[in-house]
Amino acid sequence: MFNYKNTKISYSDSGKGNVVLLLHGFLEDATMWKNIIQHLEKRYRVIAVDLLGHGKSECNGYIHTMEDQADMLFALISDLRLRKVSLVGHSMGGYVALAFAELYPDHIRSMILLNSSAQPDTKERKINRDRAIEVVKKNSKAFVRMAVQNLFDADAHKLVSDQIETLTQQALKTPVQGIIAALEGMKVRIDREALLHFSPYPKLMIASENDTIIPLEDAKNQTEGTDVALEIIPGGHVSTIEQEAKVLSIISAFLRKNG
Ligand code: MLT
Repeated sequence: MFNYKNTKISYSDSGKGNVVLLLHGFLEDATMWKNIIQHLEKRYRVIAVDLLGHGKSECNGYIHTMEDQADMLFALISDLRLRKVSLVGHSMGGYVALAFAELYPDHIRSMILLNSSAQPDTKERKINRDRAIEVVKKNSKAFVRMAVQNLFDADAHKLVSDQIETLTQQALKTPVQGIIAALEGMKVRIDREALLHFSPYPKLMIASENDTIIPLEDAKNQTEGTDVALEIIPGGHVSTIEQEAKVLSIISAFLRKNG
């Protein structure tokens, strides 16, 4: 546990070597990386953090902006006396990685955005966030169940139903304040596409063909004309569940060169 502004932050820290910092997405927690950590920790020091208001980490406000999360991560790596990290962020974790990259560029060795985006919410998406917040206030459990179901298509529901149930049970533990603070934070996040064009460290985007949250086209458009490598894989938004082996092999290959 790490104490950040009187807020408990939970994280795991294993392995030796250059540091890889794993950032989960909305309603997820550090347990999503369990199998991936088992492989990466053979070569790297792997830190997986529960972001503010998720997993075993407490809330420290009614809105957790991507910058708040990045500041918390900087405090953590400073406490651990780490200078440079390779960031791997899934979805909201990628938004946080980009905020960290903007605020603390000297501390980045490389960055992987997994089913994520450097673009802000569209007007329509912001309206949907407000609607979601109202649903959460009325019945957070129903919201969480629905939100997790919507991350997967019919095929995935057949193929990985056990893992979807595990994710649902984990997501149901997210406190109402944490859910709302994340939705508010994602809603106000800013455009960070410039980082994809002008940052000096190696970057990779992994995008899924049938991602219903971050459309493949967005990943293609954002990486075009940049030096960001793009890897396209089958499946939907939660590629760490649907395509774990593939994701692991792509991350490992990238980190071997850039980690
Ligand atoms: C996530 O998976 O982190 C979120 O669904 C991303 C988002 O809602 O923009």
